[in-house]
Amino acid sequence: MTKKIIIGNWKMNPVSRREAREIVSGIKKTVASLRKTTVVLCPPVIYLENLIGKKPGKTLFGAQDVYWEEKGAHTGNISPIMLKETGALYVILGHSERRASGEVGEIINRKIKAAMKAGLKVVLCVGEKDRDAHGHYLKVLEAQLKEALIKIPPRLVDQLIIAYEPVWAIGKDATGVETPEGFMHNAIFIRKVLSKIINKKQAMTVPILYGGSADAKNAESFLVAGGADGLLVGRASLSAKDFGEILKIAESLK
Ligand code: PGA
Repeated sequence: MTKKIIIGNWKMNPVSRREAREIVSGIKKTVASLRKTTVVLCPPVIYLENLIGKKPGKTLFGAQDVYWEEKGAHTGNISPIMLKETGALYVILGHSERRASGEVGEIINRKIKAAMKAGLKVVLCVGEKDRDAHGHYLKVLEAQLKEALIKIPPRLVDQLIIAYEPVWAIGKDATGVETPEGFMHNAIFIRKVLSKIINKKQAMTVPILYGGSADAKNAESFLVAGGADGLLVGRASLSAKDFGEILKIAESLK
């Protein structure tokens, strides 16, 4: 079995660096005993350098967004090179909460290309706002993938991870619960679309994670019955105990 990838998306939490350090030190205690699970934490970028420290350990770090230019007059933005310098290795791009504030496919595509060029691994989030019984939502997924991945150099595809996150299943206001079968169905569809965008062989190797209210109760079902290559965890990644349980589940799989 390939290594599962468990990524914590902290969003705009917690509100103090002290708390961030406490959560990380708790998570690191669990990570110390893992051998076959890749663990990535994506805190607010302002905490990254402090949390990563001087020498990188087994817990890897990433950001929740990055700009596409290397430098220049782009007030408020951070470039992939700057991000790399903190020791971050990953970046989440195209999250539904950023799409909701106006981020479109063309922008996500620019960000992906720039991040990959800088050597970052990209976690591209895709997911429909609504699920309809006729499968029209699949067109949404297809368009999101196609727009985001225009002209990605084939040699950089091994830096790509997809997170399938149905928007209606995300967060405390979720209106529904995704099932492992639902995930599997959509992951197969995503791979099919990927094989049209990049080549078939490469499309088979891109990890596809599940995200949307992932927690210790449903982790195993998504990873085993759903066949997910990993999880993108929001709320449950802010508790060292809850996230640690998810990590132990991923590690225990045969
Ligand atoms: P959630 O968030 O686990 O809190 O639903 C997931 C995400 O938005 O990445």
